Amino acid sequence: MKNNRNISSWSPTSWRNYKAAQQPEYEDKAQVLACLETLRGKPPITTRGEVDRLRMELADAAEGRRFVLHGGDCAECFADCRADVLMSTLQVLLQMSMVLTYATRKPVTRIGRIAGQYAKPRSQAYEVVDGVNLPVYRGDLINRHDATAEARKADPSRMMSGYHHATASLNYIRALIEGGYADLHHPKRWDLAFIKKSKNRVAYKKIVDAITDAIQFMDTIGAVDSSERLRRISFYTSHEALLLPYEEAMTRRETGGEYYNLGAHYLWLGYRTSDINGAHVEYLRGLRNPLGVKVGPGHSPEAIVRLIRSFDPDGIPGRVTLITRFGASNIGRMLPPVIKAVQKAEVPVLWSCDPMHGNTEVLADGRKTRRLKNIFSELEQCFHIHGAMGSSLGGVHFEQTGGAVTECIGGSLKSARQLEHYETVCDPRLNGAQALEMAFLIARMLR
Ligand code: PEP
Ligand code: CO
Repeated sequence: MKNNRNISSWSPTSWRNYKAAQQPEYEDKAQVLACLETLRGKPPITTRGEVDRLRMELADAAEGRRFVLHGGDCAECFADCRADVLMSTLQVLLQMSMVLTYATRKPVTRIGRIAGQYAKPRSQAYEVVDGVNLPVYRGDLINRHDATAEARKADPSRMMSGYHHATASLNYIRALIEGGYADLHHPKRWDLAFIKKSKNRVAYKKIVDAITDAIQFMDTIGAVDSSERLRRISFYTSHEALLLPYEEAMTRRETGGEYYNLGAHYLWLGYRTSDINGAHVEYLRGLRNPLGVKVGPGHSPEAIVRLIRSFDPDGIPGRVTLITRFGASNIGRMLPPVIKAVQKAEVPVLWSCDPMHGNTEVLADGRKTRRLKNIFSELEQCFHIHGAMGSSLGGVHFEQTGGAVTECIGGSLKSARQLEHYETVCDPRLNGAQALEMAFLIARMLR
């Protein structure tokens, strides 16, 4: 294994000299190579200009001038590449950002776990289903969820499908936004059925009315610039950089010699692939994209500083988002030493809180769930700890869907018995009402 990580030794393929965790075993190696060759010739999904713009927005958020909402599905499925699913996920994110912008008077950057969030790290390589030992499902980019040996085989052609589904999804989202769907002149268009039943409906309606009023006023006095700005928003796409051959094939060399992964705007390093000597760290360090780094109970403050330095030796603003996911019962003890170490090392980061992944529980029937009370507790503690230490929380990272699912306990869902609409293929997600409740909590914290 190599260990001299200077930038001159990096290339889009240099990760292959390092140990890569969480990779599938493909039977047909020739087919893998053929798929990657085809992918390399495909047009990119994003552009360098957009990626650079996001990095600047994240730099702003690190300075407290913006807030970042980073959310979407845990594991997107190809079958969910549908207008209704994409639109409702976008609606919830738009509603959340409207609540935040209104409450804080700060712009919000929206990043979706969408249009490419197809590969999942797993804690076990095998699982027993109805007495049969099967390889685990690793996300639609790799295999199928059905519980058969055939479905669970890693299939290289799914990388091609992943590219096409990501492209179709982002194309639709871009068209919605360009066509004025996110226009603040008509926030009522985003109303989903759940709003009527939500305990936040009155507060939400007040915001919508106040915004509509303000916009009408601007239109009346002819404040054309501001009004025009409200018609367009920016929206960015992200996923966990997990399946390295795919990510390598989506890497493009731009004029000037810099490398960008143009399969997304933003990529993150997962908790389970954060070995500082591993292949994922090697691959990501050579890109110009802004990066998320998930850290939790398994990382020491020193290890976290080393990770940040390996991605950002030059201290580029907006380059690294540190996404902490300690869990409600650990954060009080574990976050302060990390903030202290990062402050002492003077490495600039944007702090984000993932209050989901440290608060997962397994029910007696084997399903995973999360309690809103723990999710909200971690988030509140995170705001308070940063505030008390002269630091600031600039974003949140969460798993949400626009569908009327019941996967997390809390809000109007009082107990595990009510988890009737449990649809996730991986982690439990917030439904629209729960996500909106979280937005109101964040708004209170930021005020
Ligand atoms: C995820 O974000 O879906 C995930 C697996 O998170 P983590 O790597 O933090 O466990
Ligand atoms: Co998850």
